[in-house]
Amino acid sequence: ASSETGQLMALHEDATKLYHHVLMNTEAGQSALDYLHGRGLTDETIETYQLGFAPAERLLKPFVDQRQLDYQLLRKSGLFIESQTGDLRDRFADRLMFPIRNSSGRVIAFSGRLLELMDGQPKYLNSPETELFSKRKTVFNFDLARPEIRKMGAVILFEGFMDVISAHQAGVLNGIASMGTSLTKEQIYTLERVTDQLLICYDGDMPGQKATSRALQLIGQQSQLKLGVIQMPDGLDPDEYRQKYGADKFQAVMTSAKETPVAFQMRYMRHEHALNTEADKLAYLNEMTDVLTTVKSPVELDLYLNQLATEFHVSPSDLRTQVEQSRRKKS
Ligand code: UTP
Ligand code: MN
Ligand code: MN
Ligand code: MN
Ligand code: MN
Repeated sequence: ASSETGQLMALHEDATKLYHHVLMNTEAGQSALDYLHGRGLTDETIETYQLGFAPAERLLKPFVDQRQLDYQLLRKSGLFIESQTGDLRDRFADRLMFPIRNSSGRVIAFSGRLLELMDGQPKYLNSPETELFSKRKTVFNFDLARPEIRKMGAVILFEGFMDVISAHQAGVLNGIASMGTSLTKEQIYTLERVTDQLLICYDGDMPGQKATSRALQLIGQQSQLKLGVIQMPDGLDPDEYRQKYGADKFQAVMTSAKETPVAFQMRYMRHEHALNTEADKLAYLNEMTDVLTTVKSPVELDLYLNQLATEFHVSPSDLRTQVEQSRRKKS
């Protein structure tokens, strides 16, 4: 006797094997396999993450039909799309398949990537919310990364699945990702139970920088985690960086390109506000006093206040007053 949850997990396990088999051993999967190799992923990595391919001609539905699985179970799995008349067909077609595992290592959902991007079609398509899968609660790669997060005393938050997988191949094993949104309080709670330090390593492009600034503020407000930023050079994302420069240089960036949250925000906000007019400068100082409310060490705060005061010709004590006011507003 197996529970519904158990049956849904078994179905995901079967689908994982099927998609993986198609990728590794069939003609239909050849172009997807070439694509992954072209991005520099090894077969070992593909095995570790059980990557797969869902071909254009639907495959999963005929497969489950052979097994005569319960219609309601199939509906609840999120692996199929239901037509007006109640017919089910594969949700994922012509996509590279990334199994998404829970913290015990069971596959609970998929994300499927288009090989060639098309207008009106999302690059990554995720399973919908199901009994097994809550996007808010799921931390991609947490099961594999957990021991390494403990060992390193830190977790690295990447923007995309490919970055996590790429980092893993380069020997950086403590990486995780959220499901394409900013980190939720449930995900933060999961991480806080194993570490007290989180390094944000988002894409080096402008959206990635913007998301970093936002994440620092959100996570800073919602947790006691010590935060840091790993800055990707040349606007690259971590996976692009590894492809271009290789594993050794990738590892070097992970250990050397660290910045404190305030140092990052100072740089980022400066970019945001041109600082040509008095209004720009004021806006910048307002943003920075907001950022400084998160600094817990009095010495560190003093340092930044003096830096800003000198540069903008204002009094450090007035700046401090403003930080304290904005702190009170938040609590
Ligand atoms: P990116 O556009 O940076 O993708 O989105 P990526 O990780 O670099 O992927 P590749 O290298 O092009 O394959 C980052 C993350 O945002 C979410 C996914 O979680 C993705 O990993 N995302 C992006 C979606 O959920 N849907 C999308 O259509 C695009
Ligand atoms: Mn295999
Ligand atoms: Mn991005
Ligand atoms: Mn990216
Ligand atoms: Mn990428």
